[in-house]
Amino acid sequence: MQTQAMSFPPSFLEELRARLPLSEVVGKRMRLIRAGREHKGCCPFHNEKSPSFYVNDDKQFFHCFGCGAHGDVIGFAMRHDRLSFPEAIEALAGQAGLQVPRDTPIEREKFDQEKRLYLLLERAAAYFEEQLFAPQGREALAYLRQRGLNDGAIRRHRLGYAPPDGQSLLRALTMKATHAAQQETFTLDELATVGLAKKAEDRPEHYSFFRNRVMFPVGDRRGRTVAFGARVMGQGEPKYLNSPDHPLFHKGKLLYGLSRARAALSQGQSFIVVEGYMDAIALAEAGYIGAVAPLGTALTEDQIAALWRLLPSAETREPGRDYSPILCFDGDNAGLRAATRTVDRVLPLLSPEQTIRIATMAGAKDPDELLRTSGKAAMDLILKQSRPMIDVIWDLALAGRSLRTPEERGAFIGTLRRQTQRIAHESLRQLYDDEIRKRVAAFLKPQQRAGANGMAGGVPTASWNRPTYGKGRAGGVATSSSAFAVPLITRRQPPNVQRRMERSLLAAVLNHPDLYNDVAEELGQTVFASPDLEAVRQALVDSLSLEDPTALTGPELLRLLTEHPESGSRAALRETLDEVLSETTYIDAAFARPGKAPEQVRHGWHLLWHRRQRDLLRAELECARRSFADTPSDDAYARLMALRQELESVTTETAAAEAQEKAG
Ligand code: UTP
Ligand code: MN
Repeated sequence: MQTQAMSFPPSFLEELRARLPLSEVVGKRMRLIRAGREHKGCCPFHNEKSPSFYVNDDKQFFHCFGCGAHGDVIGFAMRHDRLSFPEAIEALAGQAGLQVPRDTPIEREKFDQEKRLYLLLERAAAYFEEQLFAPQGREALAYLRQRGLNDGAIRRHRLGYAPPDGQSLLRALTMKATHAAQQETFTLDELATVGLAKKAEDRPEHYSFFRNRVMFPVGDRRGRTVAFGARVMGQGEPKYLNSPDHPLFHKGKLLYGLSRARAALSQGQSFIVVEGYMDAIALAEAGYIGAVAPLGTALTEDQIAALWRLLPSAETREPGRDYSPILCFDGDNAGLRAATRTVDRVLPLLSPEQTIRIATMAGAKDPDELLRTSGKAAMDLILKQSRPMIDVIWDLALAGRSLRTPEERGAFIGTLRRQTQRIAHESLRQLYDDEIRKRVAAFLKPQQRAGANGMAGGVPTASWNRPTYGKGRAGGVATSSSAFAVPLITRRQPPNVQRRMERSLLAAVLNHPDLYNDVAEELGQTVFASPDLEAVRQALVDSLSLEDPTALTGPELLRLLTEHPESGSRAALRETLDEVLSETTYIDAAFARPGKAPEQVRHGWHLLWHRRQRDLLRAELECARRSFADTPSDDAYARLMALRQELESVTTETAAAEAQEKAG
């Protein structure tokens, strides 16, 4: 029997031993009597009258003090039933209700077939690589270089090129090589099995699935090529083609780059999950070796679990180190939707050892673009500013919401509660609930402070029902019916976009205190959605209304803020200020940088402010529309109309400011 040469995974043997107490297996074949923690009987391997054969279930072995026979459950079955090693395993597995991994002739054949398929995929990868550097791959090679990859990177990631015709790959892999180096040959069926060849309904012959594309070989966790992603060069649909699932490849379970990424942990790095092949490559080349990407689908639970499984066990973790994989999402709506879906999937699986952090990319840039345009420092910041699950749940629950009425606030709390209820891990769920309770209490607490007056409008701090809009605008619409100085976030925006707007608005004033005179009214009457930024806003408004902003430098203002008696925790405030004044802020808002001309700062600030107003109003209008649809009262209608008019005027202003920006 050929199976003799086969090896069984140690994990399977362990499982087998664990499932079959030795005394049970032995006890089926001879009489055993209990002797303390062991069992004993007359040795089946030599003739004896008094028992010297002992079975120890804890240690999983037997021993005969008479003849010295010794072994485990497998050894016992082999010797007693005169079986070969694989036969004994087969028999015991049957007893234990386990499937033997590839030990039956059928399984063996399957194993051999798989081995051929692995080899086939490897040959295909090598073929595509070869083509990339052949004359007909010139354009593909130029494309990859133009995307910022050097030849080293191209080789490391084994990128390739699939020629435009439907036959040459098939020929190369199926034809018997005539030259000395005898090559393995494969059948068209085998090529079709792994998705490299297809057969059209109306045509007899197979043709190559990937044509005229740049090839990204996908390795399994051991690094064996199992699939391909294939990109058109330049424009074209679909942008990427991916191998279909086949016996060696399940796209929902594997991650691109996984075999390389495994080394990240031992090098003190985290896993970083990004959306695209190019992102994973760009990150890896920039030194983030833990970068992986899903394979043309949204991230699945299995994929996240695959990363968690690679983390060290709780006892062996370095204290203070955060092992959470960081998931990067685009800053646009698609990114928000993807993040929402992922959070929904991950919540039930959370445990203290298994969690994630979420990083949001600035604007429409993906990691590949960010690295090329803004460098590693910008990416480092994005990662550093990744948010833990608790913050993400909070932000998502707040998105698109008005918190004007008790009902609305109740709904907000209800959403948060529903989310935490989905955490299956009991004590962690409890901890989330505690934290949410604390945050809600702090966040919804009405502002009681007298605040510092003496400013235009004299509205130093905002409360839940103070109008934000329509004040001080010439011909402004009366919006007293829409009392909504609330941290609204539009449904069209991920929370982090809102956060970034707030950050930019603050950064500009912090770097240019003299700007304050121009924006005091706006800044004094709003409420920011992020609690920590809101704290900075309040401290800023309070401090500057007591000082002459034009007499302050940026650093002086910072000192003033951190010494502000109501600043709360100094460390927390300082951390928020660090973030506000970091490079990531300026990715979105270059105008806020120190040293920019006052005119430019003022203009940039107002432009951003208008955009924010417009976004907030849109969200508000959406709420009003819904509530009018629910209960069409006169009041609701009046409010809807007022908001419409308001939005129109803000939109006009924003458009005018934008036009001016383009002209300038
Ligand atoms: P993106 O469209 O964001 O592509 O798709 P990208 O990675 O930034 O690609 P480049 O930079 O334009 O080359 C992200 C991922 O979604 C999958 C691919 O896995 C891609 O890497 N995708 C995208 C597809 O599978 N098919 C498509 O048509 C598009
Ligand atoms: Mn990209």
